[in-house]
Amino acid sequence: MTDTVDQPSQNNTSTVADTSDTEELEEEVQELEQQLTDLHEKFVEVQTEKKKYKQRLDRVTRENKKLKQSPMFVATVQELLAEQEILIRQHGNNQEAVTEVTAEMHEELEPQDRVAIDNSLNVVKSLTKETDVRAQVMTVDAKPDVTYTDIGGLDSQLQEVRETVELPLTNPGQFEEIGVRPPNGVLLHGPPGTGKTLIAKAVANQTDATFIQLAGSDLAQKFIGEGAKLVRNLFETAREQEPAVIFIDEIDAIGTTRTESKTSGDAEVQRTLMQLLHEMDGFEDRGDVSIIAATNRFDMLDDAILRPGRFDRLIEVPAPDTDGKAEIFEIHTREMNVGDGIDTHELALMVDEDTTGSDIQAICTEAGMYAIRNDRTEITMDDFQNAYAKVSDSREMQTGPVEGVAFA
Ligand SMILES: Nc1ncnc2c1ncn2[C@@H]1O[C@H](COP(=O)(O)OP(=O)(O)OP(=O)(O)O)[C@@H](O)[C@H]1O
Ligand SMILES: [Mg+2]
Repeated sequence: MTDTVDQPSQNNTSTVADTSDTEELEEEVQELEQQLTDLHEKFVEVQTEKKKYKQRLDRVTRENKKLKQSPMFVATVQELLAEQEILIRQHGNNQEAVTEVTAEMHEELEPQDRVAIDNSLNVVKSLTKETDVRAQVMTVDAKPDVTYTDIGGLDSQLQEVRETVELPLTNPGQFEEIGVRPPNGVLLHGPPGTGKTLIAKAVANQTDATFIQLAGSDLAQKFIGEGAKLVRNLFETAREQEPAVIFIDEIDAIGTTRTESKTSGDAEVQRTLMQLLHEMDGFEDRGDVSIIAATNRFDMLDDAILRPGRFDRLIEVPAPDTDGKAEIFEIHTREMNVGDGIDTHELALMVDEDTTGSDIQAICTEAGMYAIRNDRTEITMDDFQNAYAKVSDSREMQTGPVEGVAFA
């Protein structure tokens, strides 16, 4: 180092070299900067591209999902064949087909299992016993959100249902001690919209029982050839989840009086009904399972269902009397902003005698709509009157003229 300092000439040349070095470096910096800008531009480009791909991916994923969700057919596995193939029989048309499945599925499936298949007969998924039955005919609800306070004007009916259904579930020991057989269940009957389903839900809520709801019409219509099996599954599911309340709505669909016609559909309905009666009779191993059934076609029910020992109580759920109507108006306006001058008793007198709970619910909702349409935040008596006129109009269209329609 000291050598360099002692030789000025050399020092000079090095300065020249330094200058050109700086220039070179500056050039290099410029070049690098340019490169950086270029790269940055490219980066932005790639980002845009990436975004585009991402959007496309999202779209494809959505489409894929939709494809998977599109309606699928149900088939039963008949036979497991070699080479990952299975023989299936489609429900409804009874056609048999051989289709290929994945190795895992081939391992998993057994004859008689039910599977969901798509249009091209690919097995999309296997329906396990649970999802199968539940998804198709029953809804299992751990806790319906209806309580006794949501039901108006049915005090004596509620009392009776509670005695027959709730007590055995909440207090089974009492029956054992006294040595009486706990009741099988109740059959609620009455006009549409009077609160039968509400009662069943409220009982399930009160007892912390699993609530398994099943529509008789589903049993009869959708599952040709399988009604009896479904009834068996229904009681199995209930036993697995005890305490449970089985609620068979529209029981008339499987329990109507035998008709003369001897179509296979009728025979099928008969088999379903027989299975149901069998399950109800086989009380010993039914466990903590109560049955509530409902119908608005009591006149059509088969005697076999009404025979003593099947349902312990046949409870009529009528259209509400005036006090009942007032109570129901009270319940359905609880959350509404109604004017001070409005008296639910007056409302109860305004509607005709046959007005049911579900009519009242419709009237209240409609009254709210009138207020909204008129830009008011409070519901007036006029709103209720208009609502009543509208609801009874639409009821007339469905059921023919309603007698004694008059309002204040
Ligand atoms: N007694 C009632 N108290 C309060 N609300 C009621 C009453 N009855 C009916 N409602 C209202 O009407 C609706 C329908 O009632 P629900 O489903 O219980 O009728 P249902 O008797 O089972 O009729 P269906 O025979 O047609 O099955 C309820 O969700 C509720 O809002
Ligand atoms: Mg109902």
